[in-house]
Amino acid sequence: MSDAIEIRPMAVTDLPLVRAHLTNGGTAKHAERLARQARGETVYLIAWQGARPVGHALLKWEGAADVSAPQRLGAACPDVEDLWVAEALRGQGVGSRLLRAAEELAQARGCPWIGLSVGVVPPSPARRLYERLGYRDAGFGLHVERDEYVDEAGETRVWQETCLYLVKALPSSGGPVQERGGPPA
Ligand SMILES: CC(C)(COP(=O)(O)OP(=O)(O)OC[C@H]1O[C@@H](n2cnc3c(N)ncnc32)[C@H](O)[C@@H]1OP(=O)(O)O)[C@@H](O)C(=O)NCCC(=O)NCCS
Repeated sequence: MSDAIEIRPMAVTDLPLVRAHLTNGGTAKHAERLARQARGETVYLIAWQGARPVGHALLKWEGAADVSAPQRLGAACPDVEDLWVAEALRGQGVGSRLLRAAEELAQARGCPWIGLSVGVVPPSPARRLYERLGYRDAGFGLHVERDEYVDEAGETRVWQETCLYLVKALPSSGGPVQERGGPPA
């Protein structure tokens, strides 16, 4: 676990540092996510090591539009998108802490579920992490996620992945988030 890591929602004044250090998937996304956060649609969590941003996760209150998780579960199920940690810091618990921070925000809002997509074609090593933290296959079947972004060299990059949707049940009040996740039968 990295004790020196702090996780907090992105502030407008963080934008220059976040743009400079978190360049994976292009940098245009950061300002877009801040704007969505200002409208109350998302919380854009940034992991900091001192003055350096080293990871991020986007918590979207409306849930995952492409799988309609809240509609299928009949309850609020915010979605965690684009969990990412700088390569040099991977395996030290930063990703787990970003996910925990998202879970705590969702729990504080009274959401019974939280969910995320994980790549199965090609298989994502992140699935081990999600399962260890209590995320389970929601039973929605496969869906394809696709994104397009402009990289630092100005090249348009297209990204596509066949994914499963995983969900975790959150405790209704108080107490720490537990590993008791699993979708309804
Ligand atoms: C997934 C990711 C955010 C995890 O961050 P982290 O700080 O390393 O996470 P933690 O230290 O809390 O947990 C480590 C776990 O992540 C998973 N992991 C390890 N290497 C990984 C990698 N290269 N890519 C994805 N997940 C990985 C494993 O489950 C690992 O646990 P293990 O060592 O017991 O097998 C980070 O590896 C990453 O940014 N990967 C690239 C982006 C990505 O795959 N995002 C998820 C999209 S579904």
